[in-house]
Amino acid sequence: MPAKIISGREVSCQIREELKIRAARLKEKGVVPGLGVVLVGEDAASISYVTAKAKAAEEIGIFETTINMPPASSEEEILRTVDGLNRDGRYNGVLVQLPLPKYVSADKVINFISPEKDVDGFHPINVGKLLRGEPCPLPCTPYGVVQLLVRGGYSPEGKHVVVCGRSNIVGKPLAALLIQKKKGANATVTICHTGTPDITRFTLQADILVAAMGVPRIIKAEMVRAGCVVIDVGVNRVPDAASPKGFRLVGDCDFEAIKEKAEAITPVPGGVGPMTVTMLMMNTIEAAERKAGLTP
Ligand code: GUN
Repeated sequence: MPAKIISGREVSCQIREELKIRAARLKEKGVVPGLGVVLVGEDAASISYVTAKAKAAEEIGIFETTINMPPASSEEEILRTVDGLNRDGRYNGVLVQLPLPKYVSADKVINFISPEKDVDGFHPINVGKLLRGEPCPLPCTPYGVVQLLVRGGYSPEGKHVVVCGRSNIVGKPLAALLIQKKKGANATVTICHTGTPDITRFTLQADILVAAMGVPRIIKAEMVRAGCVVIDVGVNRVPDAASPKGFRLVGDCDFEAIKEKAEAITPVPGGVGPMTVTMLMMNTIEAAERKAGLTP
């Protein structure tokens, strides 16, 4: 039987409805949740992500401002912009879209965001809190992966999750989230990466397989155990002359072959992507609730 398709669009819609109610509750208390986004340059993928964030914010009732900075902006100018958003009480969340130009230190810019407004969960203080299991804004993609699993009916509790990829944005924080002794987590986690000699030896042991390597269709059906739940975090643009845009999006998994073998799989697009944006909205609402003295 073909795999169940876990739709990030459907789960996102459900969460966004919940967030609209929370935003309305905040407004009754005179608080409008706010998100400030900094976009440097004209990278097409970044523009598309930032546009999706602005649209989601508007739909939910979050006041959103995108500050577009020219591609040649200096590190100092970017830091000054972040400083302005840190100080501006209208914004509960501040986000700098990555990647930044090569000559700018992304670490320096991220470290400059107020930890309380760090809705990406990238600030070292929040990374430390996550590792320690303390309350903090959770990085949006890992948070979205966990929500997709739990709300899709595939809780990771007690399962062996194999994560392929060790990035600071997905692989490492996802592992930190999944090993917590908490509801919706409590999994056994293996991380595979470019230094793992035989990835298939590990992926075949997965109850849940997360592909976050950033390489189009690198995970093949032979690498997946029958009955596995597969979460594809990859968003890769591949040339496609038949598409008006000249490209199409594919994940890190060979979707067509794996869906004949897996218990469930997320599509690309329409899987993890919409969840990342939705969890950013969740973090913004939670930051506003904390500030308003409402317990999230
Ligand atoms: N670029 C790609 N993904 C992300 C993300 O989750 N947050 C930010 N700030 N930039 C990104």
